[in-house]
Amino acid sequence: MILKATDLSKSFPIENMESQKILSNIQLTIEKGEFVSIMGASGSGKSTLLYTISGMTKPTSGVVEFSGEQLNSLSEDHLTDLRLNKMGFVFQQANLLKNFNLRDNIVLSGYLRKMEPQKTIDKRADTLMKQTGVDHLASKDITQASGGQLQRVSICRALINNPEIIFCDEPTGALNSKSASEIMTLFNEINQTGTTILLVTHDAKVASKTERILFMSDGEIISEKYLGKLAVDSTPRDREKQVSEWLEILGF
Ligand SMILES: Nc1ncnc2c1ncn2[C@@H]1O[C@H](COP(=O)(O)OP(=O)(O)OP(=O)(O)O)[C@@H](O)[C@H]1O
Ligand SMILES: [Mg+2]
Repeated sequence: MILKATDLSKSFPIENMESQKILSNIQLTIEKGEFVSIMGASGSGKSTLLYTISGMTKPTSGVVEFSGEQLNSLSEDHLTDLRLNKMGFVFQQANLLKNFNLRDNIVLSGYLRKMEPQKTIDKRADTLMKQTGVDHLASKDITQASGGQLQRVSICRALINNPEIIFCDEPTGALNSKSASEIMTLFNEINQTGTTILLVTHDAKVASKTERILFMSDGEIISEKYLGKLAVDSTPRDREKQVSEWLEILGF
């Protein structure tokens, strides 16, 4: 087990009203090396769940255990360290810094850790950029690359410190279907090296390439389904059809 949430609830205070419960008694266990997706209608609490279990926001009640530590017992500094050293994040928009070239965007959080020589980090950035097919863009800035290329760069950035897990919030949401498909192939390759991935998506095709799907509705996980790891010889169309059927049954 790498990540476990027990009785996790999250409410946001609303002015002059009783606070609104966004996550309700979530129970969730992610095993090391899993590739899990989260689906659900807009507003069902997917992003809130992702941010709460990664320690970016505090739960109202409940416990999150990550890699042997209880997040709620950690200081802000310790949490920041944990996120920097063991977690990677990929969002819908690449969120890269515009005054740095793409390679610098990748190495920055490696330099920040001050745990390895910069040369080691540079070398890893070059390897990652090669693996993800953006090595030719190293010295370009964000205006000189496509959305799909920028998302590859943000994946390199998420991987620069060899995280144990990467959290992705609709990482293909802003991409066309060809780029989305390529990014999912990349995530599968990353997952095969042992990195755990938790990914939020609206897209049945994207979810069909993950190993297990959690379905959320009104702040609760109402169902979960296993597809198994995506094998090289599997037929993605069958998996996609399966996911569409589940979505229909669940009334999504
Ligand atoms: N910081 C906040 N303060 C108050 N309410 C919030 C806050 N963040 C989220 N919410 C509310 O929590 C609910 C769930 O939001 P969340 O962003 O988790 O949904 P989501 O499933 O990720 O939706 P989408 O698919 O549109 O991204 C929404 O009703 C939202 O308005
Ligand atoms: Mg969201």
